[in-house]
Amino acid sequence: MSTQKGASTSKVTTQTVVEMKHSGEKISMLTAYDYTMAGIIDQAGVDVILVGDSASNVMAGYETTVPMTLEHMIYHTSCVVRGVDRALVVADLPFMSYQVTAKEALINAGRMMKEAGAHAVKLEGGKPIAGTVKKIVDAGIPVMGHLGLTPQSIYKFGTYKVRAKEEKEAQQLLDDAKRLEDAGIFALVLEKIPAELAAKVTERVSIPTIGIGAGADCDGQVLVLHDMLGLNKGFSPRFLRRYADLHEEMSRAVTSYIHDVKSGDFPNEQERYH
Ligand code: KIV
Repeated sequence: MSTQKGASTSKVTTQTVVEMKHSGEKISMLTAYDYTMAGIIDQAGVDVILVGDSASNVMAGYETTVPMTLEHMIYHTSCVVRGVDRALVVADLPFMSYQVTAKEALINAGRMMKEAGAHAVKLEGGKPIAGTVKKIVDAGIPVMGHLGLTPQSIYKFGTYKVRAKEEKEAQQLLDDAKRLEDAGIFALVLEKIPAELAAKVTERVSIPTIGIGAGADCDGQVLVLHDMLGLNKGFSPRFLRRYADLHEEMSRAVTSYIHDVKSGDFPNEQERYH
């Protein structure tokens, strides 16, 4: 498959995505969790591949991202890295792998880089983890931040509704974005917040913002691959645009296969060895 027209073939680095903000080129980011899918989206020209802990939902069938372990994430990330030539690969550090102490966080971020081959890690949260982020960045590991709806804290929020609609939480988010920028993050995911607030954050920080349910003024956009491909029928938030109906396509292919096996049509003469 050829790379999408307009997309450069040189490797995407953390510096590339920062430069993209300043040149006004939007950043495309998608999740992937395995070698084959990562290879397809990399060859299509996506800029950043996030090995999200949404693997917990779409790969493992859990209701939340809380059960994901560092071992799970290292496994998924190593599969993705082997399929990618060009994109920047960012791996989520899972719940409780970075919240206990900054030292433990640094060790775990280091494992993600050394054992899985990630190019950067992503951590959820603001003020409480800013010191940890600085420590990881100071050790030479690029960090992507994540504010707004932070799914690892679902049991604290109690809901997946839009965050920071009230003035106090919006101000807190603006402060957190600045704090994370000062701690050295190279990019910031903004999840499910009002578009006007995302625009304000994007204007105030010099690092790129990547939105999911955060409007069009972010410097880039991210979607969960299974959702945008239409593999995930039951999930239809307002921000999700479906680019295919692979659920339907796969069902059709599998139904045809079952029919052909049962009817004896498969394998035919050309599909046998003699
Ligand atoms: O885990 C994930 O897929 C994410 C994106 C939704 C940003 O964090």
